[in-house]
Amino acid sequence: MHDFLPYAWFKGECVPFEEAKISIATHALHYGTGAFGGMRAIPDPENNNSFLLFRVDKHVKRLCQSAKLLLTDLDEGYVLDSLKTWLKANKPQKPIYIRPFVYTSDLGIAPRLHNIETDFFIYGLELGDYLSPEGVTCRISSWKRQEDSSLPLRGKISGAYITSSLAKTEAVNSGFDEALLMNSRGKISEASGMNLFIVRDGDLITPGVDHDILEGITRASVIEIAKYLNINVIERPVDKTELFIADEVFLTGTAAKITPIKQIECTEIKKNMPLMNLLRENLLLITENKSKDFAHWITSISIDR
Ligand SMILES: Cc1ncc(COP(=O)(O)O)c(C=O)c1O
Repeated sequence: MHDFLPYAWFKGECVPFEEAKISIATHALHYGTGAFGGMRAIPDPENNNSFLLFRVDKHVKRLCQSAKLLLTDLDEGYVLDSLKTWLKANKPQKPIYIRPFVYTSDLGIAPRLHNIETDFFIYGLELGDYLSPEGVTCRISSWKRQEDSSLPLRGKISGAYITSSLAKTEAVNSGFDEALLMNSRGKISEASGMNLFIVRDGDLITPGVDHDILEGITRASVIEIAKYLNINVIERPVDKTELFIADEVFLTGTAAKITPIKQIECTEIKKNMPLMNLLRENLLLITENKSKDFAHWITSISIDR
């Protein structure tokens, strides 16, 4: 069972989570024409009255861009204000995952994005580790990551997650924790809800944004932290065989944070991952607002307990 926060932001106000209900005829439910965000917030370890949001500006911007890809106007200022009001109403005690969602809210049929009502809501839940921080086993999925020419992959479009769902369940049903998807060009793209990094001879390598990935905010943050630490970062296509011989392989994402991969198919990955550990320690310090140089990534919101 999930621990949902008591209030949702629904139709422009905070309402009890159980009362935020939509019709079975809602357009987006049938056609996947929604777009969502996913961000984490934690209680400020230094101040019981405030909550820390990680890179909220980037998350809000990506959500509004995702809405734009669905031909919907969503104002960044409105999303940010709604988020703050919603957070203050909930006064969470534990780390949370926040799910804002914009969608075609009209009732009725016909897949389209014109002449249609849209709406926006937010809800949240308490969330600890999404994947084991000790590491996960992965299979290479038989499902390919979609192409940007058939689906706007730079947005977190709800309909796109059918492929993630198929790949994740295929992996779990065949005894693995997570799936790695190749793209239609036969290169490694990403996992079901995380971006992928490998380390080879001290270089940090990750598929570029032109390789059908979601432009992950954790990915971009890890790249910036690595450059700050003078680690050489290379964005380039990654072949399947490189995964098996890499010194380190790990996943990044808001839910997964930085998660090492310990096995891919039948091949074990080295247990010792110094670079992954260094990046993970730094990311943790930043999210807890303990790094002066990255303090601008954190937004502190007073929740007046
Ligand atoms: C398909 C997919 N790839 C990658 C990511 C990682 O993105 P982020 O770091 O912004 O959470 C996510 C999660 O949002 C995702 O759903």
